[in-house]
Amino acid sequence: MGNKKSRKVAVLEELSRGFTKRSLDGGYMDDPEFRKAYGEYFGTVGFEKGIALSREIKNRGITAFNGKKRLSAIDLGTGTGEFVRGLSEGLLEESAHEIDLLCVDRSRAALQDLSDHWIRPVPIRLRLREAILPDRKDLLEEVTGEIDLLSMANLLAENEDRLSGFRDLLATFFSRLSPGGMMILVEPADRRSSRALLSLGDDLLGRFPDLHVEAPCPNDRRGPCPALEDPADWCHEDRPTPFSSTMKRTAASLGHIKDSLKMTYLVLSRRAGEGEAGPRSLRLVSPLHKEKGMAWGLFCDGKALIRLRLLNRNRHEDTKAFGRLRRGDSIVDPRTAGSTPGREGGFVEWPTGESVVGVRRSDGTLWEISREEN
Ligand SMILES: C[S@@+](CC[C@H](N)C(=O)[O-])C[C@H]1O[C@@H](n2cnc3c(N)ncnc32)[C@H](O)[C@@H]1O
Repeated sequence: MGNKKSRKVAVLEELSRGFTKRSLDGGYMDDPEFRKAYGEYFGTVGFEKGIALSREIKNRGITAFNGKKRLSAIDLGTGTGEFVRGLSEGLLEESAHEIDLLCVDRSRAALQDLSDHWIRPVPIRLRLREAILPDRKDLLEEVTGEIDLLSMANLLAENEDRLSGFRDLLATFFSRLSPGGMMILVEPADRRSSRALLSLGDDLLGRFPDLHVEAPCPNDRRGPCPALEDPADWCHEDRPTPFSSTMKRTAASLGHIKDSLKMTYLVLSRRAGEGEAGPRSLRLVSPLHKEKGMAWGLFCDGKALIRLRLLNRNRHEDTKAFGRLRRGDSIVDPRTAGSTPGREGGFVEWPTGESVVGVRRSDGTLWEISREEN
């Protein structure tokens, strides 16, 4: 029993090290031991990410797929399939009566495991395609008509030498995306993977005027991602999530703490017109730092990053919610109220007299501070 357990941990350690150092052999998913360990640990996290992003899309009130009832979806780099299962069960299943889901991976064995073990909700028709991406534009021939959802999780991180090929592949898929169609793209929370995904997003934004960033960026961002300006910078989410005690124990034996979902992600949609109406917002893209005499954080307005602080002496009834901000939350940009914030020591000061007004929590739920306090 003890030996069996330590063997599983050893395999997970090898996988984890391989992902971090980019040293895994390309065919690692063909090894049954790797595949099983991946599915049980990383796959469980992937499933939760699929569920969390589905929930966020619903919380944000995004009208996915323009209400279509027959959907065509494609998942790239499916592996053992837990991420796309999370999306299917969290979002697709309740959106449509009939779903054609094409799963693509270089490992036939991984795809077969998914097909063998997934007790699928009735509307999902699963198709498997073994292919080495991104060099298979003929994949489009597998999808007749428009695509409603393209998902891709943790694939760029294993293909850093082929990023331009992936850009072209996704651009080809975007040109086939239906009105109201979406792309849900996720990569690990590390600098290289994050920057790779964000620059791919920028490339698509530059090519397609009807592409919109639904999440996580604020204010219907159109221009370049401000995190890419500084080569040392990147952007990620760290969303609190409960995991089972088994998952937490496995994580601890790997030296990880498993209490949140860490990822870089983009939810992109194809639609004409402007994004969500409403006040301009700022999104907290760092932890909130509480230091002597102040609280501060790095905020993004979709164009630039702002080091915004609230001095404790300016903390009062209308601003105290600042101290409760968590990474990913958004608030009304206090600069839009007309007051000019001061600057000192590299900080933008919270403008005197402005209240902190919540917009959304990181999971997309509307954040009404006044209701929360009652
Ligand atoms: C880290 S796993 C991600 C699996 C799943 N999407 C998830 O997030 O849990 C990456 C998967 O991509 C596949 N893969 C990596 N490079 C690939 C390529 N160039 N073409 C096709 N599949 C690839 C691997 O076989 C593996 O199954």
